[in-house]
Amino acid sequence: MLDLRPEPGLLDPAERASVEQIRTLQLKRLRATLRHAYDNVAFYRARMSEAGMQPEDVRELGDLATLEMTSKQDLRENYPFGMFAVPREQVVRVHASSGTTGQATVVGYTKADLDTWADLMARSIRAAGGRPGDIVHVAYGYGLFTGGLGAHYGAERLGCTVVPVSGGMTERQVQLIRDFRPHVIMVTPSYFLAILDEMTRQGLDPATTSLRVGIFGAEPWTEQMRREIEERTGMAALDIYGLSEVMGPGVAQECVETKDGLTIWEDHFLPEVVDPITGEPVPDGTIGELVFTSLTKQALPIIRYRTRDLTRLLPGTARPGMRRMERVAGRSDDMMIVRGVNVFPTQVEEQILAIGELAPQFVCVLTRPGRLDELTVRVESRTPLTLAERERVAHQLASRVKRTVGVSIGVDVVEPFVLERSLGKAKRIEDLRPRG
Ligand code: DLL
Repeated sequence: MLDLRPEPGLLDPAERASVEQIRTLQLKRLRATLRHAYDNVAFYRARMSEAGMQPEDVRELGDLATLEMTSKQDLRENYPFGMFAVPREQVVRVHASSGTTGQATVVGYTKADLDTWADLMARSIRAAGGRPGDIVHVAYGYGLFTGGLGAHYGAERLGCTVVPVSGGMTERQVQLIRDFRPHVIMVTPSYFLAILDEMTRQGLDPATTSLRVGIFGAEPWTEQMRREIEERTGMAALDIYGLSEVMGPGVAQECVETKDGLTIWEDHFLPEVVDPITGEPVPDGTIGELVFTSLTKQALPIIRYRTRDLTRLLPGTARPGMRRMERVAGRSDDMMIVRGVNVFPTQVEEQILAIGELAPQFVCVLTRPGRLDELTVRVESRTPLTLAERERVAHQLASRVKRTVGVSIGVDVVEPFVLERSLGKAKRIEDLRPRG
């Protein structure tokens, strides 16, 4: 594999800063953010007043924990523009979350916010191994979703040639990869699998394309999936994380030289991890719910936002001054509770990828035939199998899940290409339990 380490001269000053320098910068920016939010957002002013607090009462980073956290519900209640901290005329762009689980949340950006975002996405692409002059194929969806435009502006900022394909029209994605010979692809890992299948269908060996870096995110994926993608393509597959409420993609990015979790761009975002039930901060290294405070955002400063994503904070490696977050295991919303055992789709993915006959195309079907929830995993085989073979691998998967996760599941092995492909974020859970 190519050496994709960045030369030190390419790094931003913050990427070379020490922990102490980052902490000093964070405190300064945090205090300015709190003041900005207090002065301009009724919601935050009320929150701080209720707590009998003034922004200046936060004298060290740890004092932030005295403030209440902000939830998606808070954003919904202030729909559409109630959380904006600048006059609407200064908001040059809005994005919105899909709103499949309730009302959409709207986020806004000033010109300076878009600039910061482009800088951080450029930094992320470079950390993943992209370089000025590269051709970048963007297959994240364009539109209200932050993936497409976020990647687009970052790649332009880095000095790349951007191919703004967006998601969908998989046949054409492959044609453009053949014809334009991109170096970098930015896409959800699940949609990338669909693109790989289409390559194979068109007789193009995924190992022979021009692609050398894949920047995958917007949904949970696993180390096993990284291995699968890297082995099939010869690319470096890196994880990118972000969420609309905090900015979009580019809040944290895995560095190609270490591939050991995602470096959080701590000069712009202050992370905390809290116990998801009590809301109390837990020490670095302990798994819990990730919480973010923005440090430089103008249009939508966000204070202690509960992401619902489960991970833990780790010390910096490739960028020693900034902490890493472990690959996100899943969202608390996606945690299935089956006979009292917590299960995430990623745990199922890990076991599927350990079985050669199975493809990483699956859906977890939840039912409640009696009083207890049952989980059946529908998963595709890589090639058509006989009934006996299907039963054998189904049994193999069920016992692997029983052994590693501790829960009994049903497994339904289906023919290749039977399950619906997503063009963006994969839907891994189908909930057929009775409502109410
Ligand atoms: O998904 C932003 C994004 C676009 C990130 C492209 C990376 C690449 P939202 O639609 O607001 O924003 O969804 C945010 O997606 O809270 C996580 O649950 C999940 N997510 C994002 N990145 C990852 C990742 C974009 N690398 C929600 N691993 C977040 C696991 C991820 N989950």
